[in-house]
Amino acid sequence: MRVELVDVSYSVPGRALFTAVTHTFAAPATIALMGPSGSGKSTLLGLISRQLAPDQGTVRAEHDGSQVAPAWIFQSTPLLVHRTALDNAMTAALMTGHDPIVSRRRAAEALERVGLGGLASTHASRLSGGERQRVAVARAITARSRLVLADEPTASLDPVSRERVVDALRSAREFGALTLVATHDAWVADNCDARVMIEDGTLVGY
Ligand SMILES: Nc1ncnc2c1ncn2[C@@H]1O[C@H](COP(=O)(O)OP(=O)(O)O)[C@@H](O)[C@H]1O
Ligand SMILES: [Mg+2]
Repeated sequence: MRVELVDVSYSVPGRALFTAVTHTFAAPATIALMGPSGSGKSTLLGLISRQLAPDQGTVRAEHDGSQVAPAWIFQSTPLLVHRTALDNAMTAALMTGHDPIVSRRRAAEALERVGLGGLASTHASRLSGGERQRVAVARAITARSRLVLADEPTASLDPVSRERVVDALRSAREFGALTLVATHDAWVADNCDARVMIEDGTLVGY
């Protein structure tokens, strides 16, 4: 899995957010995407997911030559609140055509991996914010998503929940995923494999 940006420029009215950006992200990795509020983190994830088209340049997110659809994690990721954690963990796999029996087994394993094995049969409406985020990560792992785009996934969490969610995000790496985590939280970035900063309309790796 690789994300390749070549000579990408993108402007919003009155402001150039990205100017001739060339950068490659390669799986497996968990990479923090940093920059102050308004610097273009969410916009970059939008470009990588193809929800936005660059003004200039090309963006590819491919695995073995095929375009990859991302799994999304948001600050508060939507779940089916009247379904169990296990049902929610299975949904993306089922929608992408995975075998139901295999998906159920993988969902149970993914919930164990993110520390929610004991809550598999709990309805999502009864889970805490951090537990819901971890179910969303388990959903991406169960579907074997190659690309996970996380936009401020820990912004509304306490420190303990934050640590558990970051550990869950990192576990997607074990399944070969490239996970890009947009965050302004230095602790989150310190716990990723690498960080990329948005500076003066370009990307700088650290
Ligand atoms: N559709 C749009 N029209 C005008 N301005 C936009 C639009 N989308 C984003 N912006 C502006 O682009 C800048 C970057 O936004 P965003 O990518 O959301 O930043 P971040 O996620 O780093 O906080 C912000 O100043 C935002 O207001
Ligand atoms: Mg944002």
